[in-house]
Amino acid sequence: MRLGIISALAEEQNGLIEAMESPNKASHGMRDYTAGKLWNVDTVCVLSRIGKVAAAMTASILVEKFGVTHIVFTGVAGSGDLGVRVGDVVVADSLVQHDMDASPLFSRFEIPLTGQSHIASDRELTRRLAAAARDFLQNEPGSPQFHRGLIASGDQFINKRSQIAALKDALPELLAVEMEGAAVAQVCFELGIPFSVIRTISDNANEDAAVDFMHFVQTVASRYAYGILKSFCGQT
Ligand code: ADE
Repeated sequence: MRLGIISALAEEQNGLIEAMESPNKASHGMRDYTAGKLWNVDTVCVLSRIGKVAAAMTASILVEKFGVTHIVFTGVAGSGDLGVRVGDVVVADSLVQHDMDASPLFSRFEIPLTGQSHIASDRELTRRLAAAARDFLQNEPGSPQFHRGLIASGDQFINKRSQIAALKDALPELLAVEMEGAAVAQVCFELGIPFSVIRTISDNANEDAAVDFMHFVQTVASRYAYGILKSFCGQT
């Protein structure tokens, strides 16, 4: 396995590169790709920046130029369900691009000419990531909960009650919203690369989202990513 680890922002990945044995940095397409051993796993870490195109480009380069065989995306998300609270962790079983709508040519959310709307994450990688998340959360104060299900991605920071309510209406299974995961899912689906997405909930995708998001990414996000990936890599 050569594992690609993507996060949008530095705050979501802090500490991982420092934990790498003999890191080797290469720049390509305005991003730094750092390869090395992370707790004994051959790994390439990279920051995608925000949004679906940025994430798709990063995932493609990880596979085609850096030869990764598996991809994990780790970061934060807004809650898409009343039962999913700030500090909880969501692992995606499947992902959908919530702003994809080529109707009436194709049904809403369908990625044109692929026959896909919801793309399933890899079962085995997701099982391992879920086990790592449960393991990490056991020792966290405040009893954060673990969830598994649907994550929706789009090129919008959701920060209005009406927006998140409309999304929930269209996608009743929704657990979390973010801006990259479903783009990585499409790239990995098309290239035949197993992938998984894990998100810590930073906000409720409502009018307080921007403030909650900033606070959360600065204080908590990277500690979660570090702890969960350490546990994940330790399983191999
Ligand atoms: N990532 C974290 N919070 C988010 C939100 N409210 N909308 C979109 N992406 C997010």
